[in-house]
Amino acid sequence: MTMGPTGWDDRYAEAAAGKSSVWSLESNAWVAATVGGLDPGSAVDLGAGEGRNALWLASLGWEVTAVDFSAVGLETGASRAESLGLDIEWITADATDWVSPTEVDLVVVAYLQLPADDLALALGNAVGYLAPGGTLAVIGHDLDNLTRGVGGPQDAAVLYTVDALLEIARDLDVIECRQFERLTPKGTAIDAILVARND
Ligand SMILES: C[S@@+](CC[C@H](N)C(=O)[O-])C[C@H]1O[C@@H](n2cnc3c(N)ncnc32)[C@H](O)[C@@H]1O
Repeated sequence: MTMGPTGWDDRYAEAAAGKSSVWSLESNAWVAATVGGLDPGSAVDLGAGEGRNALWLASLGWEVTAVDFSAVGLETGASRAESLGLDIEWITADATDWVSPTEVDLVVVAYLQLPADDLALALGNAVGYLAPGGTLAVIGHDLDNLTRGVGGPQDAAVLYTVDALLEIARDLDVIECRQFERLTPKGTAIDAILVARND
């Protein structure tokens, strides 16, 4: 069973109470390497958590909307943004039914592990609100992680496959969609990544 907003709220609240965080303060390395060279415009960080990627994008001049169904995770992000003097829109919503009211130049999705139908809804929505020329950048724990990787959810139902990402991006120009090996202190983690443009 996937964790709902209350479970995520509790996890983020516990970390905040210990003056800590669930995720790193730095942006995800793959996200940074993949979208760091794009010209800033409008961006959505979908499933933003404590906002590490949203904060990094905003620091580069992107106009960022961070969306997550955990209000507590977003509160942590908002207080970090305030101390850094960054302006980000924080929206508590379910990614499966939230739709940006305006087209955006970039959608970043990092480790939003949802059952296949829900992932197709969330990413399908994102494809729909990508501006012409806009980029969708997705990274998630791959199904193969269960057998030859480390970390991440151990529930096959919420793990990514390259084929599912390719199907979601079928109307986009796919620049890259493949497994991606990430070195961690505990071993190699297998992610799936997608970079696609609305050309
Ligand atoms: C593994 S965390 C990743 C957070 C962030 N993207 C990062 O890389 O630091 C997954 C996030 O997805 C959020 N999430 C899970 N299901 C969601 C849904 N249906 N709608 C919105 N957010 C969701 C959780 O609250 C959590 O913050």
